[in-house]
Amino acid sequence: MNRVPISAHETADELVQDILASFIRLAGEAIASRGVFRVSLSGGSTPKRLYQEIAASSLDFSRIQWFWGDERNVPHDHADSNFRMVNEALLKPAKIAAANVFPVPVRVDDPAAAAMDYEKIMRRQFGVAENSAESGRQQSDFPQWDLVLLGLGDDAHTASLFPETSALEVCDRWFVENWVEKFSAFRYTLTAPAINSGREIWFLISGSGKREAIGKIMGDERNFRLYPSQLIRPTRFFVTSDALPEGNSV
Ligand code: 6PG
Repeated sequence: MNRVPISAHETADELVQDILASFIRLAGEAIASRGVFRVSLSGGSTPKRLYQEIAASSLDFSRIQWFWGDERNVPHDHADSNFRMVNEALLKPAKIAAANVFPVPVRVDDPAAAAMDYEKIMRRQFGVAENSAESGRQQSDFPQWDLVLLGLGDDAHTASLFPETSALEVCDRWFVENWVEKFSAFRYTLTAPAINSGREIWFLISGSGKREAIGKIMGDERNFRLYPSQLIRPTRFFVTSDALPEGNSV
């Protein structure tokens, strides 16, 4: 984990500009070599600032497909909806075509069915057939994201992989509903193998409130049930300097 490149910046503004430049570079490379750039989006405050900047950029949005790495079990127009956040920060301002947008088909009363539906939608887009649980364990059966964007919760959760939840153990599905006791609610989330199959996996983290959580995911005490982000194999960390634990420098 410590060998993963860390890009650290003094301010959140500088951080977002660095992520934006990296995002634009990566999108250009993916579109040039594969004709499409498939991104899994995160909720959270740092990503939101990035999305606003992406909306104002001159990227070729016709070649970018947007998916959600996690979602709350609420209608898309609800204040807590990750779709709503992305819609307002990015999709509407950039006038992104609906054909390139793949939101979680939330079903408040049947999250299990909605999660299964979303997995089917994603499999169709990635051209990966539904397989048995056994063959689903091969890396090639999981989505080859060009980029997975992730936030980090104060409790070391990422996406909606929360401590002590059932989704942490799932390795034969891409996307599942996940009961989170502390919210008394279901969330929807990519599973760890469906995140780790990404070509690029970036954690976007800002603020001193995240220092302890970063310490946990980079630390020696390995316990993914308590620190779910330990399940993830990121390719890069983008952080503000105040989020870094003592002894971690760039
Ligand atoms: C969500 C997220 C979640 C988030 C972290 C960090 O929907 O809640 O996807 O994983 O990224 O909680 O959020 P902040 O950046 O707001 O601290």
